[in-house]
Amino acid sequence: MMIGRRNEFLLSVIGTAGKQQRNVLQVLMSNNITVLGIESSCDDTAVAVVRRLADGTAEVLSSVVFGQTNLHRCYGGVVPELAARAHAVRLDNCTEMALSNAEIPLEKIDLIAVTAGPGLIGGLMSGVAFAKGLAAGANKPFIGINHLAGHALTVRMIHNIEFPYLTLLVSGGHCQFLAVHSAKSFSRLGTTIDDAPGEAFDKSARILGLDQPGGPAIEFVARHGDSSRFKLPRPLLKRMGCNVSFSGLKTALLRAHQSLASGDMFSDKDTADLAASFQQAIVDVLVDKSIAAFDDYRALLAVDSQAFVVCGGVAANKAIRQQLSRLCDSRSVRFLAPPPEYCTDNGAMIAWAGIEIYRPGLCDQFHLSARSRWPLDETSPPASSFGKKGPKS
Ligand code: KG4
Ligand code: ZN
Repeated sequence: MMIGRRNEFLLSVIGTAGKQQRNVLQVLMSNNITVLGIESSCDDTAVAVVRRLADGTAEVLSSVVFGQTNLHRCYGGVVPELAARAHAVRLDNCTEMALSNAEIPLEKIDLIAVTAGPGLIGGLMSGVAFAKGLAAGANKPFIGINHLAGHALTVRMIHNIEFPYLTLLVSGGHCQFLAVHSAKSFSRLGTTIDDAPGEAFDKSARILGLDQPGGPAIEFVARHGDSSRFKLPRPLLKRMGCNVSFSGLKTALLRAHQSLASGDMFSDKDTADLAASFQQAIVDVLVDKSIAAFDDYRALLAVDSQAFVVCGGVAANKAIRQQLSRLCDSRSVRFLAPPPEYCTDNGAMIAWAGIEIYRPGLCDQFHLSARSRWPLDETSPPASSFGKKGPKS
């Protein structure tokens, strides 16, 4: 896969850099860089090889993702200890596959990028320890990547978009509106005060007797459902700001399901209608709060965002993409979303974040440790407590 984009970040830095810094950047820009990205923060073991060419275009040379759905199915959720062990067992194999699919030997890799947080601590430790071993054995630099930064920056691997921009990061553990100032600087404009949308999709799918992950399962059955049949709540819609809440929505779905299922009358049509009504409630909240986020972005940066980017696993949802895209059209804002395979967890987003952040001499050292909590914007207080992927940011 070949993806075109200029390297506008480096170009803009050159304009203000001193002479020595300029030389380092010119060397960087004239060289290709090939990065191995490793992701193990939740229930996907993922490794990819990404290359950025001298002209700034990015190429995903391989991307291997091993999900753990079957492993956790009978427990009704991700079991952290099992997830960590499965990552430890599979990382080796995934890396061999990624290198072999890319037809690149480890010696030709310039940098190893690994998710160091936030997420389930056991899985993160498996990934970080593996990356350190690989780096030590092959004598390569390595860098710890914030998983959320991986999601928020992926769009730049695919599209030509300069900093800053407004992004909505929606995943299994997070829902945040962020102003992305650079690869290392983010302002959180709003977040969830309880569940993340992916968590709500997963829990609601369980209530409806659908498979995991719940997002794609609900999206599939919702295709032929009547989204106006069940009146589900749209929490915080009338409140100021772009914080969101989804736990009440999941409870309302549970009540609607219980009242219909009590007479053993829950048909496929009921499931489709309830799934469609639930999905539409999530869409309505995200659309409404995106409007508030446009305003908050303008208040912070004194300028409108050049684009609106949706990313994270839930951004794979077609209804969410379509309706956010429609909102952007109505306001003449450019709408961007990575292809679905780069919305859900993958190694390419980690490799790409490594490319964005790495500068020669600025890699991590062997005392790098995994962090279960690692907010992108350290100045914003946490708005919620613990979620599927540990403490939320
Ligand atoms: O980003 P991700 O792969 O992992 C986290 O960082 O959490 O997101 C996973 C979440 C899961 O909750 C999954 O149900 C949801 O993304 N998801 C979707 C879709 N595909 C994945 N939700 C709605 N519609 C989808 N098509
Ligand atoms: Zn993720």
